[in-house]
Amino acid sequence: MTGTRLAGKTAAITGGASGIGLATARRFLDEGARVVIGDYNEAAIARALDLLDAGDRITALRIDVAEEHDIERLMQAALGQWGGLDIMFNNAGITGALGPITEIEADHWDQSFAVMARGVFLGIKHAARAMIPNGGGTIVNTASIAGLAGGVIPTVYSAAKAAVISLTRNAANELAQHRIRVNAICPGIIFTPLMHSGREAEALETARQVQPWPDAGTPEHVAASVLYLASDEAGFVTGEAHVVDGGYLANGLLRVHPLPGGKANPDYAGMHYGLTGQPREIRRLPQTTDQRQ
Ligand code: NAI
Repeated sequence: MTGTRLAGKTAAITGGASGIGLATARRFLDEGARVVIGDYNEAAIARALDLLDAGDRITALRIDVAEEHDIERLMQAALGQWGGLDIMFNNAGITGALGPITEIEADHWDQSFAVMARGVFLGIKHAARAMIPNGGGTIVNTASIAGLAGGVIPTVYSAAKAAVISLTRNAANELAQHRIRVNAICPGIIFTPLMHSGREAEALETARQVQPWPDAGTPEHVAASVLYLASDEAGFVTGEAHVVDGGYLANGLLRVHPLPGGKANPDYAGMHYGLTGQPREIRRLPQTTDQRQ
């Protein structure tokens, strides 16, 4: 342990087995918190528990954030083991539906929103139910700069992240009376497997073109801001969409993004389930006149 900013607090983190969620779990543990991770990917959970090596201050379970019962189980794990929940980090995400809007399947829209919007709604709902009897708490939701500006693709991902920001503002309004702060974090290009999909060099090159700050964004950059929002230092901050993007949004150049599916005129469509372990369903589209040129 290196600090005491979260000493005695209990935190739940969805998507906590990888990337931003994992870095945040490490940071929370370092600051004295007890952490319960909920993630879809069982192998990643096992690896995360090994890496974090936090003894009886950590527990984890396999959940699907889109399933209400699973979110309830996550809350029960925190309440049963540690008697309360102080911090909820609704962070699980996937790339979701890909392709031009004319080709996106309605089922893929629903599946994307199930994880990235419904999952956050359920996390807020049940975290608030757990926090209200204990006199309050704090909720952080992972959105994205994609939810704040047009021109960021994939389209469905951006729409789901905009929903997270709207949900955050409304929940902050409603839950303030219970002393529950609700904020969103909006990362830019953060080097995680979800973002570069194994094509790190390509992603780094794109980041150089659009992001003013010279360093690459890391999960630790985001975790530091989540820690701030979750801690008492942010005691008067609620309803905020906090950007962590090395100046990408300030630069205004939002036409290119290295996310898988982030091509302006994609020649494929389908569904990318992120790092959940579920196989992708991507199909090639017939070439259009534009793409042949
Ligand atoms: P990641 O893929 O490394 O981690 C996401 C985790 O969420 C994975 O462990 C995955 O198994 C889990 N997950 C996915 N669907 C789930 C479900 N239905 N139920 C439970 N767990 C589920 O990705 P990363 O990059 O750490 O992303 C974390 C969040 O940050 C996501 O919401 C993502 O959209 C967001 N974000 C990431 C950016 C980036 O550049 N990496 C930029 C902006 C936002």
